[in-house]
Amino acid sequence: MPKSHIVTGLDIGTSAIKALTVLKKKGSQDLEVLSKVLKPNSGMRRGVIVKPEEVSRNIASVLDQIRTESGQKIDGVYVNIGGSHIFLTSSRGSVVVSRADQSISREDIERAIQAAKTFSLPPNREIIDFFPKQFIIDKEPGIKEPLGMRGVRLEVEILAMGAFSPYFKNLTTAVLSAGTQILDIICSSISSAKACLTPQQKELGVVLLDIGAGTTDLAIYEEGALIHLAVIPIGSGHITNDIAIGIRTDMATAERIKKEFVHYLKGNILKTKKKEKIGSSLNPLTFSPKLLRKIIEARVCEIFDLVQKEIKKVSSVLLPAGIVITGGGAKLPNIVELAKKELKLPCRIGTPIFHQILAGKEDSGFSPEPAEEGEDPVFSTAWGLVLSAIEQIEQEPEKGFPDFRKRVINRIKRTLGVFIP
Ligand SMILES: Nc1ncnc2c1ncn2[C@@H]1O[C@H](COP(=O)(O)OP(=O)(O)OP(=O)(O)O)[C@@H](O)[C@H]1O
Ligand SMILES: [Mg+2]
Repeated sequence: MPKSHIVTGLDIGTSAIKALTVLKKKGSQDLEVLSKVLKPNSGMRRGVIVKPEEVSRNIASVLDQIRTESGQKIDGVYVNIGGSHIFLTSSRGSVVVSRADQSISREDIERAIQAAKTFSLPPNREIIDFFPKQFIIDKEPGIKEPLGMRGVRLEVEILAMGAFSPYFKNLTTAVLSAGTQILDIICSSISSAKACLTPQQKELGVVLLDIGAGTTDLAIYEEGALIHLAVIPIGSGHITNDIAIGIRTDMATAERIKKEFVHYLKGNILKTKKKEKIGSSLNPLTFSPKLLRKIIEARVCEIFDLVQKEIKKVSSVLLPAGIVITGGGAKLPNIVELAKKELKLPCRIGTPIFHQILAGKEDSGFSPEPAEEGEDPVFSTAWGLVLSAIEQIEQEPEKGFPDFRKRVINRIKRTLGVFIP
């Protein structure tokens, strides 16, 4: 009988820290949110922690609030890593099949994986995670389950995700100094994908875009597996900067105008004749909504241009499940229309759909409507962390809470679990 578990997902974002503490009850698919916190963050630039002490203080304050709200002591958290220093590299391992009858055994598979995990890295880089891609038997690619098949040479291709070591260290320092343990570290886009994509979409081919304040995180899936990952160092915060410069106002007012942009749109057509007035009566700010739209769209199009370049890197992929946009930037009112126009793919907003994933329900891969139920897209990464945590614990119940390094090893074993005892 599975036990009850309480897990905390901590999404350390450029503009805000989002945290969720969730109870997964024994024998039930339901999740109970014990605490949900969103607090402004500082000390980060474009998804990277540049001032660990400052971020640590912010994390400590979030943890305090979680403890008060949930009545739980938070001994460990599942945390995200972001920033354009994140890289994905492909590696292959190859072995000669050992049995005389050439039937591929579990040992052969494990030896091939071990060989693939051994490769040299540029200085100051470290591997955080591994993702299996495919097996190749005697040059025949695309094999997912080689156990028992016959062959002379067995190869495996894996993707390794790594980070710039000093930034990775800043993350661990910031969390540990806030007085909690790190139970796992998961890349932001992979975490958001966990919360927003269905297995069906991943099978068909889909792009997950998490538009945050400092970065736009992208993950591409096909045949159920991750095939590409990128972090574009531009996010919705840059739109705020552009508005501040473009209509000559301070950042707080520019942020407000951006979030109220929907009010300047009517059926997606701006009332261009009228000039809007906000600010105090002593110091009124007048701007044309047409200019506002131009400023916002120019930056969004720049982001989509860079997204297009990333998609082209895996040009063989058709992506019938289109683009799923999440993160705070997904709340810009006309983002779906712009994405369709610029990227020429179907597009929808992704909200955390944990109930569907846990209940094993799947949609048809692409639905033009946003999910009817679901959470604020700002909480996608935090939800993904919580879902990954629950999945890990339920698949390794006897292991309790091994440390982060061990979890990475366990994860690749689990993902390839069909092959490894
Ligand atoms: N209604 C809205 N309309 C437009 N933008 C919005 C809206 N609500 C939030 N945002 C923007 O979303 C961004 C915050 O989103 P999010 O919390 O996903 O980013 P983050 O995780 O802090 O950043 P990153 O992932 O880049 O490190 C801010 O730039 C904010 O202005
Ligand atoms: Mg984010």
